[in-house]
Amino acid sequence: MKFKSVKEIGDLYLSYFQSKAHSIVPSSSLIPAGDPTLLFTTAGMVQFKPLFTGAVELPYTRAASIQKCLRTTDLEVVGKTERHCTFFEMLGNFSFGDYFKKEAIEFALDFSLQKLEIPKDKIWVTIYLDDDEAKEIWMKAGIPEERIVRLGKKDNFWGPAGDSGACGPCSELYLDRGPEKGGPDCGTSGTCKPGCDCDRYLEYWNLVFNQFNQTVTGELLPLKQTGIDTGSGLERVAMLLQEVDSVYDTDELKHIIQTIETLSGKKYDESTKVNFRVITDHSRSVFFSIGDRIYPDRTGRGYVIRRLIRRASLFARKLGIKEPFLYKIVETLTQIYSSRYPELKERASEIQNVIRKEEELFLNTLEVGLEELEELLVRMKSQGQTDVKGVDSFRLYSTFGFPKEMTRELVLERGFSFNDSEFDAELEKDRDLSRASWKGKKNTYLTGISDSSALKTEFTGYTRLTGNSKVLYLFKDGKQVNSLKAGEEGVVLLDQTPFYAEGGGQLGDWGYLKNAQFQFQVQDTQKENESHLHLGLVLRGEIRVGDVLETEVDAGRRQRLAGHHSGTHLLNGALRRILGTHVAQKGSVVSPDYLRFDFSHPSALTEEEIRKIEKDVNEAVAKSVAVETEVLPIEKAKTSGALSMFDEKYGNLVRVVTMGDSSKEFCGGTHVSNTKEIAYFALIKEGSPGAGNRRIEAICGDPVIDYFQSVFQSLAEKIQDYNLGAKEVYGDLKQHGILDKIPAPEEIQSIFETKKTLAVESLREIKKALESSLAEKSAALHREKKKKEALSFQLNPELVEDIFNSSLKVKDITIAKRVFDGVDAKSLKDLADSLKAREPKILCLFASKEGDSSTLVFMCNKVLNDAGVHCGNLLKTSLELLGGKGGGRPDMAQGGGKNPEQIDSALESAVNEIKNKFGG
Ligand code: ALA
Repeated sequence: MKFKSVKEIGDLYLSYFQSKAHSIVPSSSLIPAGDPTLLFTTAGMVQFKPLFTGAVELPYTRAASIQKCLRTTDLEVVGKTERHCTFFEMLGNFSFGDYFKKEAIEFALDFSLQKLEIPKDKIWVTIYLDDDEAKEIWMKAGIPEERIVRLGKKDNFWGPAGDSGACGPCSELYLDRGPEKGGPDCGTSGTCKPGCDCDRYLEYWNLVFNQFNQTVTGELLPLKQTGIDTGSGLERVAMLLQEVDSVYDTDELKHIIQTIETLSGKKYDESTKVNFRVITDHSRSVFFSIGDRIYPDRTGRGYVIRRLIRRASLFARKLGIKEPFLYKIVETLTQIYSSRYPELKERASEIQNVIRKEEELFLNTLEVGLEELEELLVRMKSQGQTDVKGVDSFRLYSTFGFPKEMTRELVLERGFSFNDSEFDAELEKDRDLSRASWKGKKNTYLTGISDSSALKTEFTGYTRLTGNSKVLYLFKDGKQVNSLKAGEEGVVLLDQTPFYAEGGGQLGDWGYLKNAQFQFQVQDTQKENESHLHLGLVLRGEIRVGDVLETEVDAGRRQRLAGHHSGTHLLNGALRRILGTHVAQKGSVVSPDYLRFDFSHPSALTEEEIRKIEKDVNEAVAKSVAVETEVLPIEKAKTSGALSMFDEKYGNLVRVVTMGDSSKEFCGGTHVSNTKEIAYFALIKEGSPGAGNRRIEAICGDPVIDYFQSVFQSLAEKIQDYNLGAKEVYGDLKQHGILDKIPAPEEIQSIFETKKTLAVESLREIKKALESSLAEKSAALHREKKKKEALSFQLNPELVEDIFNSSLKVKDITIAKRVFDGVDAKSLKDLADSLKAREPKILCLFASKEGDSSTLVFMCNKVLNDAGVHCGNLLKTSLELLGGKGGGRPDMAQGGGKNPEQIDSALESAVNEIKNKFGG
């Protein structure tokens, strides 16, 4: 076959489909827009999901793309096989109610033969079990029957991506690579076929015939318009055309492997290929993800990125690379990919920084963690145990940062088993206990200690995050000890420290204490009276009383804490400016990830107040004022107008933190040096912690971008639901659907980049406009729906007949009585008119309930009025039961009440009155 580079294949693909009237659509972000059910973009069709279901107006009916994709289901085998990747690029052509099976099959075959130049006799296809239509089309196109294989649901039914959406039977194209690629049992005479696990027939293109919309409950509803979704892995096609056995040997991935060889000085061969492939694949995934602003984190998408970086670090270490390494590959990745994804050029240095920091963080503990695991496995082996307990695997996670899946992989590799549920139980326990347990111990350390330097730690951390200190005391399990060894947890008391101890709502610092002999990881800093206690773990060597060491606070975490602490002060100021000076702080939590602020205020905040508060804080951020601190005698500080906590005890000297005109407070916490470092502020939750107070949760910095992305994602879902409903009722999206575009994740990012501190306000405005237009349109849709229902209700002769047949008689009076759900008064009256026309001496007692309200309509002809029936009077009595008031004319009365559960008794009481009056 003719060699074609990855780039050539991509170019050929797009130009071919452009010539077939397809719009060429750029790849969307790896964060799926408008689909919170999906963690990552896993296929080309993801960005088109609403187009398939018809939930948005179609901008085009044919499209083609090269889509960045991330699939992590097989993460643990990546590197160990020839073809698994977590990141890949997918070629795809799509039709939305435009062409269907015939053209999809013809395009795929034509492109394969004419552009990829694959010989026709090497192409095989599979079809879904009973899809004879597809079979016929393939045969007409020239694929003989013997090369068409039927496969079941597992292979030939695709979708949906995520919890719900378009799906359908599919048909796949395979390339026959010759009998020599068959497995040992397949026979060289070619007895196997597509569907066999061997390497002879490799699938390279999936054509999905979208016919169904799967709901979240798993129901398959027919799609209003059929569609085509095809997907072809670019690396996979390149592998076939370049006639190599592994995607890692195709031109672009090979280039990355060669870069790793040069940078590491190691050789790519049989013994190292797993390591090289893991590093190659994971570096690409991480590069593109951070490019799309998914940062390593403890949960969600960020956790997957963290896992990828840590797994790559592990495989690099196994190659003997012990320094941060992955970040060095970014340069080559940028060179290769910025032609297809130009935005990556600008992002390269940030991507590099994020990766390097994350690598540094993990490499500190990787070595010790591996040693500990090794000791554990050796010990277990000698005791004949095989099941690694949850407490042990969890310790690797909590103290050394080993992702659960990584430990599982390491443990399984060595022939031991891994207990998932025990690990999860430990994690759960830890969430409840960890902070409580540190706290439980803290007040006992200093008992019996009298030297003044130990009783008051000098805090140097306002201006510096590193320094030199001396170890005064060490504790283990609450008792004084002389030393702590690698693997031991304990508490370190120093003469001076830059580590901030939890206080004033701000959480304690993390970081390292170290010298040539040891490294101690500080996992929390707490205060006992005026002493700072460093709680943590010895990673390496031995720490002894009297040692001189270097201190190093985790600067990134401290910066995030500082941002949230300064944000808290600006919030306090804003609340007093906007709500009034009665606002008094009742408590706060400042963490690296968010801030929480309790304050006195009698009522819930309105949307307008929230908007104003956010705006006030963001304006203070935009002013870029320097944050100034001074230590003053308390009286002077009080007269300066600085805010203090009413119930807090202060010493003679207090520290006052000032941010221009926006804030002045007593505070011992650590802050940014200029408000601009806060970057963005968003209020994400408002509620009450009880006792007449209010509680606000807010975030500062980059998390604000994530927050707005998820806000707009869920709004997009609601709008799509509305659009589907609108199409159903009006039969037309153009006129009635909500056409305003929801900003996609990447647009939200660029709004933050260009508008900076104004972004929050402008996104709130976009959100508000969309929400009110959605509410307005939903109300109109609801009315229209009701109207339609009423129409069909009134015109329904069977209903009239049915009510008439089940009516009861009191003497010669016919009483028609019925309770409906959600039917309006007008329809009830129309129905009564039809019955009155059918039987002159009829009394209609109709009711309808909706939510917690009920509607009554009583009607009869004049002949019954003459006989003494009075609808208005009857209604009056019935309404009493429903807690409503009303009345009306003798021939027609209407009213409404609550208590819909009483509705049957209410009608019954009217019947009884007739019975009493007329006998029966
Ligand atoms: N969406 C289909 C797939 O991913 C084409 O295989």
